[in-house]
Amino acid sequence: MAIRNTGGAAVLELRGLSKNFGGLNAVQGVNLKVFPGDRKAIIGPNGAGKTTLFNVITGVLPASSGAALLFGENITGWPSHRRTALGMARTFQVTSLFPKLTVLDNVLLAIKGLRRSKYVMWRPLSSYRDVHDKARQLLESAGYWDRRDVEVRNLSHGERRQVEIVLGLASDPKILLLDEPAAGLASGESREMAQFLKRLDPGLAILLIEHDMDVVFDVVDHISVLHFGEVVEEGTTASIRASARVQEIYLGTG
Ligand SMILES: Nc1ncnc2c1ncn2[C@@H]1O[C@H](COP(=O)(O)OP(=O)(O)O)[C@@H](O)[C@H]1O
Ligand SMILES: [Mg+2]
Repeated sequence: MAIRNTGGAAVLELRGLSKNFGGLNAVQGVNLKVFPGDRKAIIGPNGAGKTTLFNVITGVLPASSGAALLFGENITGWPSHRRTALGMARTFQVTSLFPKLTVLDNVLLAIKGLRRSKYVMWRPLSSYRDVHDKARQLLESAGYWDRRDVEVRNLSHGERRQVEIVLGLASDPKILLLDEPAAGLASGESREMAQFLKRLDPGLAILLIEHDMDVVFDVVDHISVLHFGEVVEEGTTASIRASARVQEIYLGTG
């Protein structure tokens, strides 16, 4: 369950965050606080603005108004790589691995990519050892070290989605944003994904977009419901599960 550090600054805070595409208000006035170790989900129907919200939080798209704060620092205008350096990582709705490379090589490339942007030219090649040690540590803690020499294309779909999350951890994030990690997975694989997420460092905050409600209810303890870009309801998983309004607009059982 969540380790809530109410004394410190939120890892992530959104204040009235909005994004318009021309006349379309894709994200409208979203407020959210995520503390260390929090596990929170954003749910909502297709087109509700979930991915757009992630794109604005991570700096892929500029906000139209409002603010995002990371550890109390206003990062609203920051480029993505600065947010990554301060502790934010994300995975994408669509897979982003190199299929013909091994698991280990994918992780090595992810780490090298980060270090190149962080240390620019003066970082000597002898840092390769550090990179390899880091890759080993990441793969061991995720339970993938014994599969390090497997080409990614030979992994199951569920395993690939997990390795993508391992890549996201390469920057030692304090908050991880996951866009539909269980999308396209068979139900057994989705359960494994939920178990995998629950084994991650309990101090890591997770913000999860997910359609599979079994995964949502298993992994998080707080849910925000997005509808036409607005948070229309938020609360504990139990309260969201019981909400007639949520059932009406989202679960379609009202
Ligand atoms: N780059 C874009 N330009 C214009 N409209 C967009 C863009 N990205 C998303 N949208 C629109 O914003 C709305 C929210 O989309 P999205 O954030 O992808 O929803 P979700 O992830 O909840 O399914 C949709 O109506 C979508 O068509
Ligand atoms: Mg989406």
